Amino acid sequence: MCGVFLFTFFSSQAHQSAADIAPGFSWCWLCEMLPHRIRFLFCHQTAITKTEEKNASSNLTNKCNAVSKAIITQANTPVGKKVIYDGEKAKMEEVTRKLFSIFVKESPFGNVTWETCAVIGNGGILSNSSCGQEIDSAQFVFRCNLPPLGKDFKKHVGNKTNLVTANPSILLEKFEGLTERRRPFVESMASYGDALLLIPAFSYTRNMAVSLRAAYTLEEFQSPTRTVFFSPSYLRSLAQFWKDQGLQVPRPSSGLIVASLALELCSEVRLYGFWPYLLHPDTQQTLTNHYYDNQQSMRTVHNMPAEFRHLLRLHSQGVLRVHLGQCAARRAMSFSEV
Ligand SMILES: *[C@@H]1O[C@H](CO)[C@@H](O)[C@H](O)[C@H]1NC(C)=O
Ligand SMILES: *[C@@H]1O[C@H](CO)[C@@H](O)[C@H](O)[C@H]1NC(C)=O
Ligand SMILES: *[C@@H]1O[C@H](CO)[C@@H](O)[C@H](O)[C@H]1NC(C)=O
Ligand SMILES: *[C@@H]1O[C@H](CO)[C@@H](O)[C@H](O)[C@H]1NC(C)=O
Ligand SMILES: *[C@@H]1O[C@H](CO)[C@@H](O)[C@H](O)[C@H]1NC(C)=O
Repeated sequence: MCGVFLFTFFSSQAHQSAADIAPGFSWCWLCEMLPHRIRFLFCHQTAITKTEEKNASSNLTNKCNAVSKAIITQANTPVGKKVIYDGEKAKMEEVTRKLFSIFVKESPFGNVTWETCAVIGNGGILSNSSCGQEIDSAQFVFRCNLPPLGKDFKKHVGNKTNLVTANPSILLEKFEGLTERRRPFVESMASYGDALLLIPAFSYTRNMAVSLRAAYTLEEFQSPTRTVFFSPSYLRSLAQFWKDQGLQVPRPSSGLIVASLALELCSEVRLYGFWPYLLHPDTQQTLTNHYYDNQQSMRTVHNMPAEFRHLLRLHSQGVLRVHLGQCAARRAMSFSEV
């Protein structure tokens, strides 16, 4: 509810201060509940200027150029090229004919700019959010790390998927590294329809074989899902971009990577499920780690709160919108109404 109010506020009242809108009234009770530093970012909105908005995404475009560089293609990665892994210094893979044949011909982002994009971060805040319809109304929906989209979740997270990422670790944990029966993997992928499956195959040498097995499996079972690989040089330049912005993390999370990709490919980007804290900002209920389970991440390479603060900064600049809280039914009809 407050999320709705916030977005209305940000888009239509961006040039007024909170006090102008409702003197003497706590215009946003969400703000009262937010941790202090976030409250500052979220609630002391400065005027959104189109120039700043443009600069933020053109900065990304200059530095990272997702359209032509995010994905390994036959056009940008010829046979014989030595591809350097982004997670392991001094490791490289020479592109053989066999490897080349599994690459897409050209960038799937070639000629398009999507008007409205939704990026789904899988956080527990999506539970009971009723955001499914609003998410599905976006032109392009990005999801991270093969999230479950069964009927129990549809109302809250939707089921439309245009691009979904998979960390090789999930292929190892959930699908036995695709060295045994492969049908469960193919059946599970059916929930993403003809989405692109995006895998960071060139991050660590140990992930290459399982990433290729995923691509071969989907091809052999004639799945409509198409497998593509992140270009490691894109991931390196993206990590550098965020470092330059002051984000001190060893590696950006999939959520931040996909949000950055969306910023370059879409006019309007909305993030759902990125809230990294334990308590719901509206209801104060304890949240699970993901909307589908309460598994804690074993690895400590990511710093979700630090990433979230950076995303909130972009939110406060009007570059993207961080959605928190419930989605109202009436808003599900139109993505651009606010
Ligand atoms: C945005 O970019 C334009 C041209 O590239 C530049 O003139 C302007 O100063 C920049 N504005 C900001 C706020 O960085
Ligand atoms: C874009 O880059 C320019 C110059 O490098 C910088 O002054 C500006 O603050 C950047 N804009 C954003 C929104 O990061
Ligand atoms: C982009 O447009 C060109 C020329 O119209 C076309 O040949 C190519 O297939 C398009 N690429 C994509 C990814 O749609
Ligand atoms: C979601 O709703 C169910 C049923 O109303 C309730 O049991 C559960 O506690 C709620 N979860 C959250 C995180 O609000
Ligand atoms: C999403 O759900 C709708 C309605 O239940 C269904 O028709 C559609 O096929 C689903 N989409 C995918 C990709 O499963």
